[in-house]
Amino acid sequence: MGLFKQATEFIEMMYDELKLGDPANRLSEIKKEIDETNHYTHTSKELEYGARVAWRNSNRCIGRLYWKSLVVRDERHIDNEADFVESIETHINDATNGGKIVPMVSIYSNDVTLYNEQLIRYAGYDNVGDPRSRAATKQAEKVGWKSEPGDFNVLPLLYKVGDGEIHYHEYREGLIKEVDIEHHHYPKLKDLGLKWYAVPIISCMDLEIGGIYYHTTPFNGWYMETEIAVRNFTDDYRYNKLESIAKALELDMSKTTTYWRDRALVEISYAVYHSFRDSKVTMVDHITASKQFKTFERLEQEAGRTVTGKWSWLAPPLSPSLTHNYHYGFDNTMRSPNFLYRENKCPMH
Ligand code: ARG
Repeated sequence: MGLFKQATEFIEMMYDELKLGDPANRLSEIKKEIDETNHYTHTSKELEYGARVAWRNSNRCIGRLYWKSLVVRDERHIDNEADFVESIETHINDATNGGKIVPMVSIYSNDVTLYNEQLIRYAGYDNVGDPRSRAATKQAEKVGWKSEPGDFNVLPLLYKVGDGEIHYHEYREGLIKEVDIEHHHYPKLKDLGLKWYAVPIISCMDLEIGGIYYHTTPFNGWYMETEIAVRNFTDDYRYNKLESIAKALELDMSKTTTYWRDRALVEISYAVYHSFRDSKVTMVDHITASKQFKTFERLEQEAGRTVTGKWSWLAPPLSPSLTHNYHYGFDNTMRSPNFLYRENKCPMH
């Protein structure tokens, strides 16, 4: 589809949904710009609406009820390293918001390249840390970053501005909020020394709005407890902690049918959820998130739209059959605007 056609679909949708009247003038402006430059420039309002609808269209996301509240930072003017680093730190600080997490996206010019999968990630070494970050850790070391191997070393920001070199930046002291994981009823769990960062800020996806691709658009919501407990801590190709957790809980691990694995999953989920809440950091449990998703589906229907989704992501990895999402299929059509994976950017999906 040609660029003007994609632009037209987007602008018409925006003017219709926001009741902005006749888009004809804006469209002829865009047509002129495309004819002259093969490109057109979104206004900040278009960027804001486009990014919000991209969230609404994110088939894997169970948290979409809040799409209208996405805070959109138009940072396209940034053209140097110092301003870029400051802007990223401002995003982290403002999205963290002392624990009351604000869903946020920052949109930069395509002259700025970000190499991180998320703005905040733990480094991965041969035997410790997050195995998912091994390649990223090597990449950071290649440009001069040094660290003592450990389980929870925050990786630096890895970026390039214009034709410059790839540089790293270690976040300023106190910027990254983290939560120590403990369990109200099993004090030994704390001894595992598990922790996680407060805000997941995806920085390896493109944002497509009306045919324009933004490559540098870090965005965040807040965590659902199973992402950390059931996947990051438990997957055998991640922190692989299921056995250590079961031991800390003193479960009978003599045979599979004591159900020690399943019990450990429930308790680590409880621990992650309550540790975040006790630290006053936003966190949602999978049952509540599914209910919120149901409300999103109802509101979309009332607005005359259908909901697209990816079943394998919308069914939570803990007790999926307790949520409505599990019991029917979803149409996984990709709509525009949207957030897209770019090949070779995210290590795995
Ligand atoms: N699952 C990813 C992680 O554990 C985060 C993906 C985005 N999650 C979110 N709640 N917005 O880091």
